[in-house]
Amino acid sequence: MKKILICGAGGFIGGHLASKFIKDKNIQLICVDIKPIEYWFQNFDDAENYSLDLKDYNNTIKVTEGVDDIFNLACNMGGMGFIENNKAECMLSVLINTNLLRAAIKNKCAKYLFSSSACVYNGSKQNETFIPGLKETDAYPAEPEDGYGWEKLFSERMCRHFTEDFGLETRVVRFHNIYGPIGTFDGGREKAPAALCRKIIKAKNESSKVIDVWGDGKQTRSFLYIDDCIDGMLKVFNSDSSEVFNIGSEEQVSINQMIDIIENITQYKVDKNYQLDKPLGVRGRSSDNSYVTEKIGWKPKSTLKEGLMKTHQWIGQQINSGANIDKFCKSNIE
Ligand code: NAD
Ligand code: GDD
Repeated sequence: MKKILICGAGGFIGGHLASKFIKDKNIQLICVDIKPIEYWFQNFDDAENYSLDLKDYNNTIKVTEGVDDIFNLACNMGGMGFIENNKAECMLSVLINTNLLRAAIKNKCAKYLFSSSACVYNGSKQNETFIPGLKETDAYPAEPEDGYGWEKLFSERMCRHFTEDFGLETRVVRFHNIYGPIGTFDGGREKAPAALCRKIIKAKNESSKVIDVWGDGKQTRSFLYIDDCIDGMLKVFNSDSSEVFNIGSEEQVSINQMIDIIENITQYKVDKNYQLDKPLGVRGRSSDNSYVTEKIGWKPKSTLKEGLMKTHQWIGQQINSGANIDKFCKSNIE
């Protein structure tokens, strides 16, 4: 029996990882999140579930006892609306990674994964709308996203030095805007795919024509569907490389192009009210997957349209079901 710990299991990616591991009878699963368990996006009775603050060293010691593998998906984060307005909060997540790494050494855990972000990439390479995909080497010289991006870059390096100095096997993945069902879609932490699905679904429900769009809609991103994210993360985890790898999509689209896709799925056309004073982030961003494909043999399978169809269907069901959807629309981190 392998003992696996998922940190941030109450969140989007952690919840999907837990749903995969819980089916494997050779895994003893431990799930931890700071949120009260009733607010976890997914939770499973067959796992050991703890609501604990992993910024606290004593808690990290407790939950890593006897653990083989650690997946650190815990972070106080969100889309642009959150990270631009909560830089100190984002940087405090450095305590989660630091204390988990220390605990992993103390409790002799075998392997540790850190979930980094495309926000580590040098800002000067992301000033145009359509840019060449970002290669792993483009993180240096360092000019990451203020706050959140600096925390991720620092924590990546800490993993590297824990490997070099203490022999802990670490894996680092840089996620590029992950989306899919069973994630947040309102309340301030939501990212563009979920936010825009929600806005267009609600516009149709209310027969209103106009939706708010942050920026001029010409800024670009690439978005990775959750199933591809889980697949890529596990391939990197099970590889023998402790290098840093992109886990992203190379399908770069403008926000306006993504809105066109969502309008087609919804079968409803909207007018866009461009809000230039909202948090915008970089002008253009996409992933270059050549290195991860060559070294790990991973590339995404879903197109943006396919992933958005599933995401849209789930968000529509939540909005139209009349069920309590608070946990997907409020912060709930106390
Ligand atoms: P999420 O917000 O849905 O999940 C993170 C979870 O961590 C939340 O449930 C939160 O309650 C928990 N958490 C926060 N502080 C904690 C603490 N002190 N102790 C214990 N738990 C705590 O986010 P996600 O989308 O699932 O992201 C998972 C990881 O992937 C994060 O490290 C994030 O930075 C990284 N990432 C995500 C994306 C993306 O687009 N989703 C992109 C880049 C990087
Ligand atoms: N969130 C959101 N909501 N963004 C919108 C909206 C909206 O209603 N309308 C337009 N946008 C624009 C934002 O202004 C930004 O330019 C772009 O859509 C993408 O925004 P997000 O999806 O919120 O974030 P991001 O891609 O800039 O950064 C995200 O991905 C990183 C990894 O690639 C964040 O989630 C980071 O935390 C993450 O690390």
